[in-house]
Amino acid sequence: MDNLKDKNVLITGGAGFIGSHLVDRLLPFCKKITVLDNFDIYYDPKLKQQNIKKHLTAENYSLVQGDIRSNEYLETIFRQTKYDIVIHLAALAGVRPSLKNPTDYLSVNVLGTQRLIDKIIKYANQAKLIFASSSSVYGETDSTSFSETDNVNSPISPYGASKITGELLCHTAFKNHNLNSIALRFFTVYGPRQRPDLAINKFCQCILKNQPILMYGDGSSIRDYTYIDDIVDGIIAAINYDKTKFEIINLGGGHPLSLRDMISTIETVLNKSAIVIKYDKQIGDMDKTISNIDKAKLLLGWEPKTTFKDGLTNFVDWLENDLNLDLVTRV
Ligand SMILES: NC(=O)c1ccc[n+]([C@@H]2O[C@H](COP(=O)([O-])OP(=O)(O)OC[C@H]3O[C@@H](n4cnc5c(N)ncnc54)[C@H](O)[C@@H]3O)[C@@H](O)[C@H]2O)c1
Repeated sequence: MDNLKDKNVLITGGAGFIGSHLVDRLLPFCKKITVLDNFDIYYDPKLKQQNIKKHLTAENYSLVQGDIRSNEYLETIFRQTKYDIVIHLAALAGVRPSLKNPTDYLSVNVLGTQRLIDKIIKYANQAKLIFASSSSVYGETDSTSFSETDNVNSPISPYGASKITGELLCHTAFKNHNLNSIALRFFTVYGPRQRPDLAINKFCQCILKNQPILMYGDGSSIRDYTYIDDIVDGIIAAINYDKTKFEIINLGGGHPLSLRDMISTIETVLNKSAIVIKYDKQIGDMDKTISNIDKAKLLLGWEPKTTFKDGLTNFVDWLENDLNLDLVTRV
């Protein structure tokens, strides 16, 4: 990563799950990393403080605690430093809660994205933008696996709709201002520090505490789980990609698993049985997310390397060893 040593990097949402792993990886190589994060209360901000603890002592790291929708913060950040790379991860990230608060989701994920793009165009028009999109954009589709060329006109959650809009805003800025950007569609990311609202984290904690887990639907829904280190590899490959100025690329684990199989893998790794309570399928939940990663292979030379069992073992090690279970409990 020698090419990054003279680069200034802005990471929005850099205190969160994916962002903090990205900072871990990039910090030794970049000239400067600025994180803009408002430590939103969607989940316990103490977890985010924990995520960034090691970063705070690095001389080339700077933390701005603020909202991406605030022109004031953005002006200050962009006036102080000319950024070469902007990785936009800040968002309200849950699917189900977006059905209850669609306005908040659109405000942060759409207005916030446009405000950021405005500042990049104004102060750093040569910068490359990486936008965190999601498999949720695919919504209801008959495709057996999701390709970037699929129609994304049928999202089933405001969250999915907000991510499609974010991609469209990147494209519009590319067309009108030649903004260089890549939207990466992440498929269910997991690993150490995973958000506490996500199923793997909730299930592992409940099973470890002998509490029942809630299984929505009949267990046949499918997710293409993607390990955090593979996602970070994909983001770095996208930073280094320079052949075209706008792309949308799937980053998926390549090993789709049913909910039932996900639970039984957890049982194997924990060596404990789950007490499963069945609930109706939740509105907004997709039946399946299965990624076609041909484009990531072709353009980025990217392929996921981590098996679900290995990734899950790493997650459980983190859960059991690195954190006090009481702190991470949000189930
Ligand atoms: N984790 C996944 O499975 C997954 C899948 C697809 C896409 N994504 C996307 O990847 C990105 C990172 O997700 P994550 O799982 O790390 O979530 P996360 O919630 O851990 O991280 C998001 C961070 O953004 C910050 N944030 C929220 N609103 C903000 C605002 N208004 N201003 C500044 N900061 C704000 C939060 O405090 C948090 O630290 C998000 O854009 C998410 O939509 C995640």
